[in-house]
Amino acid sequence: MAIPLVNLQRNYQKYESDYSRLLLETASSCQFIMGNALKQFEADFAEYLGVKHVLGVGSGTDALTLLLKAHGVAGKTVLTQNNTFIATALAIGNAGGKIALCDVDEQTYQIDADSYTGPTPDVVMPVHLYGYPYDTEKIKAKFGNDIVIIEDACQAHGSILNGSRCGSLGLGAGFSFYPGKNLGAFGDGGAVATNDDNLAEEIMALRNWGGRIKYVHDREGGNSRLDTLQAAILGFKLSHLDAWNQLRNERAEQYRQLLGDCQTIILPPETPANSLQNCHLFVIRLKEHDRDQVLKQLNEQGIGAGIHYPVPIHLQKVYQNMEFAKQSFPVSTTIAGQIISLPMFPEMAASETATVAETLLAILNS
Ligand SMILES: Cc1ncc(COP(=O)(O)O)c(C=O)c1O
Repeated sequence: MAIPLVNLQRNYQKYESDYSRLLLETASSCQFIMGNALKQFEADFAEYLGVKHVLGVGSGTDALTLLLKAHGVAGKTVLTQNNTFIATALAIGNAGGKIALCDVDEQTYQIDADSYTGPTPDVVMPVHLYGYPYDTEKIKAKFGNDIVIIEDACQAHGSILNGSRCGSLGLGAGFSFYPGKNLGAFGDGGAVATNDDNLAEEIMALRNWGGRIKYVHDREGGNSRLDTLQAAILGFKLSHLDAWNQLRNERAEQYRQLLGDCQTIILPPETPANSLQNCHLFVIRLKEHDRDQVLKQLNEQGIGAGIHYPVPIHLQKVYQNMEFAKQSFPVSTTIAGQIISLPMFPEMAASETATVAETLLAILNS
């Protein structure tokens, strides 16, 4: 039996009657835009994160773009990491900012601000990559307490750093509700989280054609609201998020037990003390094998392993004329050629995790 990287069908089938009821109830209200289910979800997610404001928007990319725009990064430098999904970097450019990149820590794969040698950036945007709770204090230690931090929390729903939820650690955070995320919608969706009243006010205008009052537009905005139908589904899923993250962590622990003795596999970093990783992705590293061959063999044997991400940002074609494309980022570049993401989703059976581990070990030992 094939084991995909992520299986959304199982979740859908298990909760189908709840989803059907919610969709029909919400649709019958005909409040398709900015309806009550959206307001309720924004309030619930804000409470869950421990922030004052959550604002639903069209996608994670929009959440980051609107945050940066609202803060006013036009012409300013925003530092992020070289090993992330392309949307992190695109959001900076979309908001008119200048992208600066830095390498990542070899143990945690998270941003390594100490490796950055350029002028102090105006904003730093770390990514809690794979759901690992990155410690934003490290950025303050490097650039000072006043440095503006905007979290890319698109993979970090439910993760906790030292008792605080990821998404509540900086000036603002962007979340994605892409269907495969730990909190995933039935389509695209995203949210901004912030404690800052002015920033929230600005984003409410920017997501609504530049004004909060109908036909009054005081700045250039766009159209990026989270659909009421999506919010109804997300509200339901939010009440299960911690339990689903716990199931992911059980599978992660099983992978650790089964693969821990293999000398050529580097397991993901352990979660820091007083913290929680949501295990969005379980990413191992192979230093002594041909990663692409191993991945090919896994895929041929029905294991839906993947790579997050195969091409670092500075090597993406879109950025080939940028200054940073000429820099070298040795850690992120090396890691990109060695990592494999193993199947991971809450409904994954223990027997499936065992099959993935067995298949992988057989390939590595062959
Ligand atoms: C780290 C990261 N940033 C940004 C995004 C963009 O989110 P979206 O696909 O909702 O636009 C994603 C997810 O796709 C992501 O994983």
